[in-house]
Amino acid sequence: MHFYRSFLILCFFMAHASVQSQVQPDAKLNNESLYRPRFHFTPKQGWMNDPNGMIYLNGQYHLFFQHYPDGTVWGPMHWGHATSSDLVQWKEQPIALYPDSIGMIFSGSAVLDKNNTSGLGRGGIAPLVAIFTQHFMPGEKAGRTDFQNQSIAYSLDEGKTWTKYAGNPVLKTPNLKDFRDPKVIWHAPSQKWIMSLAVADHVEFYSAPDLINWTKESEIGKNLFAHGGVWECPDLLSFNHFGKTIWVLLVSMNPGGPNGGSATQYIVGDFDGHAFKPYTTDIKWMDYGPDNYAGVTFSNVGDRNILIGWMSNWNYANVVPTEKWRSAMTVPRELKLIEQDNNKNTNSNRFLLVSSPVKEFMNAFTEIGSKENVIPNRIDIKDAKTKDFEIVLSNTYNEKLIVGYHADKKQFYIDRTKAGVSNFNKGFAAVAVAPRLSNATNMDLSILLDKTSIELFADGGRTVMTALFFPTHPYTKWEIISKEKIAPDSINLYSFK
Ligand code: FRU
Repeated sequence: MHFYRSFLILCFFMAHASVQSQVQPDAKLNNESLYRPRFHFTPKQGWMNDPNGMIYLNGQYHLFFQHYPDGTVWGPMHWGHATSSDLVQWKEQPIALYPDSIGMIFSGSAVLDKNNTSGLGRGGIAPLVAIFTQHFMPGEKAGRTDFQNQSIAYSLDEGKTWTKYAGNPVLKTPNLKDFRDPKVIWHAPSQKWIMSLAVADHVEFYSAPDLINWTKESEIGKNLFAHGGVWECPDLLSFNHFGKTIWVLLVSMNPGGPNGGSATQYIVGDFDGHAFKPYTTDIKWMDYGPDNYAGVTFSNVGDRNILIGWMSNWNYANVVPTEKWRSAMTVPRELKLIEQDNNKNTNSNRFLLVSSPVKEFMNAFTEIGSKENVIPNRIDIKDAKTKDFEIVLSNTYNEKLIVGYHADKKQFYIDRTKAGVSNFNKGFAAVAVAPRLSNATNMDLSILLDKTSIELFADGGRTVMTALFFPTHPYTKWEIISKEKIAPDSINLYSFK
């Protein structure tokens, strides 16, 4: 304890002066050991993109995902499947849904149909119902506009096997080619299922009594909010705010994100079972980093809103330098809605969506002492002064990743310009920036570090950044660089258990 504190204090004052540890490259170094994350879900092999159908059932969290098992680039989409009892360790399961004559299996959601409203349950077993887009590639190639339609499938054995509904598709496109990613919730006040659907430049809401017969209720988003690209993967979440239900609509968009490429914005407002009324038309980002996309939340977890995002960006997802698999998921994050005191009277910016790693996940770390050549998996800094600082991870091959704060600009940044391999994409070697969204005198930071990713949660998750990096050799040294002590007594370091 004493050792690491004094080491850190030394670092604060010595700036760049700390000793370089000369670590030789691991002779057994290969793509797998270099880039396979320690605590982020990846498929054993093949391509992965969006998380789909996430649901909790009888002690198991289910994560389905966009998957092409036969290649490491995007291809005919299946739903892969993984389960976890603790949101930390995931076990990959057999593929849940295969493409068929209606099309590939694109993104969507899953619900537990407790009251068997769909009639798909049997012998008293409530069905798990998956609702997803089927993309008919020959239709797209022929220049048609009717190739994205919504289908359902059900499982009576807790997600192990799935049967596609005989009457698919259950919701046909009105000849709009971007018509996808259904996320369904049960809306208790109106006793209806509500589907949020991404339709090019807006979200449409549909309702159904039975998950089969869908009626359009309303739409939102045309000419409002961010429109640098196509809207995808919406999610409608509710938060209990002192007894009042406040709704948040997540909308992923590609491209047009704050640091280029794909990113997720959110809208706060009221939803009455028919229409969503936003409180403000300000543009807000759930995560400012370049690598958190298509994030949606778990179903059947009570009051909690637990999100997992796809930790990549469509700008380069297909070409990142992993060999056996492509893409990882973010750690599961708890979303909360907070009210900003200084804005109580105006709705503009009154509510902020904040994220932090789920508490189950935080228990998966053990505290370690500070050694400059032991890279922590998590760094927590409490009560940091809002002064310039940089946390630098480096190796002896002149590669370094920097996460820092620029006080004058009130900006956090992640600099991966020299972090390692970047020749696979022109824009990858860049500095991503994010505004500080708190006026508090001091700040707290929690940073998660895996082999190829950094996730920064600042000010209780008000500013979040997720970014990938690919060093040619593992980072072997880390240091905090700052002119003044930023928080000498409250830095805690952890290693993943
Ligand atoms: C988002 C997305 C979805 C689509 C899926 C296809 O990343 O483009 O809109 O359903 O990926 O794999």
